[in-house]
Amino acid sequence: MNKKLFIETLGCAMNERDSAHIIAELREKESYCLTDNPREADLILINTCSVREKPEKKLFSEIGQYAKLKKSNAKIGVCGCTASHLGDTILKRSKAVDFVLGARNVSKIAQIIHKERVAWVDIDYDDSAYVFSQNSNSTLKGMINISIGCDKQCTYCIVPHTRGNEISIPAQLILDEARKMVENGTKEILLLGQNVNNYGRRFSSEHRAINFTQLLNEISQINGLERIRFTSPHPLHMDDDFIAEFARNPKICKAIHMPLQSGSNVILQKMKRGYTKEWFLNRVEKMRSLIPDLSIGTDIIVGFPTESEEDFLDTLDVLEKVRFDTLYSFIYSPRPHTQAQKWLEMDKNIELVEEEVAKSRLAHLKNRHKEILVEENAKQLGKIHKILFESFDETNALFEGRSDTNKLVRVQSKSDLIGKFYDVKIHQVKGAQLLGEIVKH
Ligand code: 5AD
Ligand code: SF4
Repeated sequence: MNKKLFIETLGCAMNERDSAHIIAELREKESYCLTDNPREADLILINTCSVREKPEKKLFSEIGQYAKLKKSNAKIGVCGCTASHLGDTILKRSKAVDFVLGARNVSKIAQIIHKERVAWVDIDYDDSAYVFSQNSNSTLKGMINISIGCDKQCTYCIVPHTRGNEISIPAQLILDEARKMVENGTKEILLLGQNVNNYGRRFSSEHRAINFTQLLNEISQINGLERIRFTSPHPLHMDDDFIAEFARNPKICKAIHMPLQSGSNVILQKMKRGYTKEWFLNRVEKMRSLIPDLSIGTDIIVGFPTESEEDFLDTLDVLEKVRFDTLYSFIYSPRPHTQAQKWLEMDKNIELVEEEVAKSRLAHLKNRHKEILVEENAKQLGKIHKILFESFDETNALFEGRSDTNKLVRVQSKSDLIGKFYDVKIHQVKGAQLLGEIVKH
């Protein structure tokens, strides 16, 4: 009988990819199968995120809950960014945890499960250890890491500490992996990295020099691959060459994540983001001039230390000008090992924005964005998108898929649509939901 694995994944796409990698390793090497019920699991893994303080705080109460409901001989492991960041402190604080495996050590999962009470969190790297194990059940969409870690020193961010220096994975490994996926039926590939468009700056050893734009171009030449997405690029590195390739190449999906963080030049400088509001808007304008239907998503932090009302108004101004298709917004959360937290501790003139003020700024931003979305979605009525169908929503009996611009579109159909592309006309817009009908088979 197969052993059962329950895994909870928090955080970003990188963590999802790491979980997929862990699942594949345990399936191949240790004959585990997945369960969604922690009570029947032989191994419970929590793949953690530490980008904000709240989920990190919740970790120990979660471990406590799993410890209560698990089978008596089941093991509990903590992986991911909080594992990297807290290391063996997790073992000291919780007797229920059997092992701790850092974000950069996921490929050692099949070894660590046989150890007792250890923490492996080093951040060295070599290409051979970072195997591309085949992963998920769905082969339609695949994820490939193109770089790990981050070299930027954004002053709010814990990631360089948890995931280490930025290292690009050799292009040959990425291309081989992409080809293998496509041979197995993958139609869409998501390239992952903390800072994807900084690709090619540093490899772990001698490798062919290649930048992100060239990598995109080479991947797009794989026969049978239909779509390429990537996350996250940094607005600073969106040079003209990149924009030209992005606009020209039909396989590159016309949806981009551009993490703004703040619209205020004063705050952007304090965050050490390396660009100005004007540069950001210029990049958006340039891309939209070439791709009028481009979908743009963003991340925004409100309440960064010293953020004034005027600074916040600059952020709102960018929201009005860009009218982002997706927005992830957060209240600044002080993180250990970051420059901003050091300032808060050392410099009396630098203070946290009052909680009530930060909360009201966040609410304002989110509400305004919701209004914008309703206005923008209404414009979708009658538009035709090419949809790749991915899943079936049992409750509403609707097939679901995404457009090139990453819009979720739902369609009623008697025949199975999954895995296929169809042109779909939007005939109904319900809030954020788009309903359509197939116009061409
Ligand atoms: N506080 C709040 N939000 C943060 N993010 C990163 N660090 C912090 C922090 N200390 C947000 C950024 C990033 C996203 C993944 O999380 O917006 O783009
Ligand atoms: Fe992803 Fe950052 Fe969270 Fe780690 S800390 S899981 S890199 S968002």
